[in-house]
Amino acid sequence: MKDQAMLKLGVNIDHVATVREARYRGRERGEPDPIEAALICESAGAHGITAHLREDRRHMQDRDIFQLREVVKTRLNLEMANAPEIVNIALKVKPDIVCLVPERRKEVTTEGGLDVASHWLALTDTRKKMNDAGIEVSLFIAPDPAQVEASAKVGSQFIELHTGSFAEHFNRKHERAHELERLVSAAKQARELGLQVNAGHGLNYQNLHVLRQVPHLVELNIGHSIISRAVVVGLATAVQEMLLLMRE
Ligand code: PXP
Repeated sequence: MKDQAMLKLGVNIDHVATVREARYRGRERGEPDPIEAALICESAGAHGITAHLREDRRHMQDRDIFQLREVVKTRLNLEMANAPEIVNIALKVKPDIVCLVPERRKEVTTEGGLDVASHWLALTDTRKKMNDAGIEVSLFIAPDPAQVEASAKVGSQFIELHTGSFAEHFNRKHERAHELERLVSAAKQARELGLQVNAGHGLNYQNLHVLRQVPHLVELNIGHSIISRAVVVGLATAVQEMLLLMRE
């Protein structure tokens, strides 16, 4: 229970940049500004800011990541593929932690976990580079015993359990129980192997209370549901402010 009381929130602000890029792609700046969003999340109590610099730069841009490093006062978690170009950027930015994720160009969002067992050598090499630069490392994996074991062999400090399948099956009772059980046993195994455990993907205001049954969680990384909620709870104010200007 003690672990759970200390559960931290890392807010993934990629989708703030997604909205900006829909209008201002290729320009130096535009709205909404992910840097401003990060500061709001921190002042609202978030324990960390997460951003994914994708190889195709579909949302976050390089300048965003460098600016985030300057302003984020909690913890900056950079999600990234294990690709040489991005590894070099990460070594310059020096986030507090990197979370290595698989990346496929056509995916809408990160779809699967890393196959750590198959990419053990390359991941270990990057893990060492990051740790030597004072950056912690997390590996984004499915709750699969072979992947947890391989992550420990890589020597990463954290794993982030992929909760996408849990979220997807949340409304089907038996599947939900099965997915929850996979997460619980992966978290226990990871803890026994000395790994710290984060979780993320698809977590929202409905499924969180069930996810909290997973033991040993340190931090949850949540993006889409928080940014979506912000649109809904903020829309009335935005319309009222515009109407006020029109009436003046
Ligand atoms: N964790 C990782 C590794 C991710 O790739 C993502 C999606 O970018 C998230 C967490 C957040 O997922 P969601 O946007 O569904 O909350």
